Amino acid sequence: AVERTLSIIKPDAVAKNVIGEIITRFEKAGLKVVEARMQQLTREEAEGFYAVHKERPFFNDLVGFMISGPVFIQVLEGENAIQKNRDLMGATDPKKAEPGTIRADFADSIDANAVHGSDAPETAAVEIAYFFGK
Ligand code: CMP
Repeated sequence: AVERTLSIIKPDAVAKNVIGEIITRFEKAGLKVVEARMQQLTREEAEGFYAVHKERPFFNDLVGFMISGPVFIQVLEGENAIQKNRDLMGATDPKKAEPGTIRADFADSIDANAVHGSDAPETAAVEIAYFFGK
């Protein structure tokens, strides 16, 4: 089915000047950028976005990293977009990411891991609404 998913190019990848290379991978895989915005997140915005992780030990570091510079937030649309984006990203920990994935090629650590992508249809809907409304 045609789906939409939320993708964030994180501060590490923005600083490396690889927004275009990452978007090219989405486009070559048949995903279309249907919404996009460059944004410096506030602490409150980052905490709200990652609220499901607020009890996790890595929460403060994650939020601190996500507000360390601007991010590029997009909605991707296409057939099977949620899983397709996850396949393109590779594992959360770049040390475990398959060669050729975005995280294997651009990420430095589990926090500075280049991209975020929604993990399921329910979270995609919530995450898209969080940044782009209905
Ligand atoms: P992301 O897909 O943006 O969702 C939550 C983020 O928390 C994740 O990518 C990682 O960058 C970060 N994180 C840091 N430590 C961990 C961990 N142990 N497990 C999962 N995510 C982690």
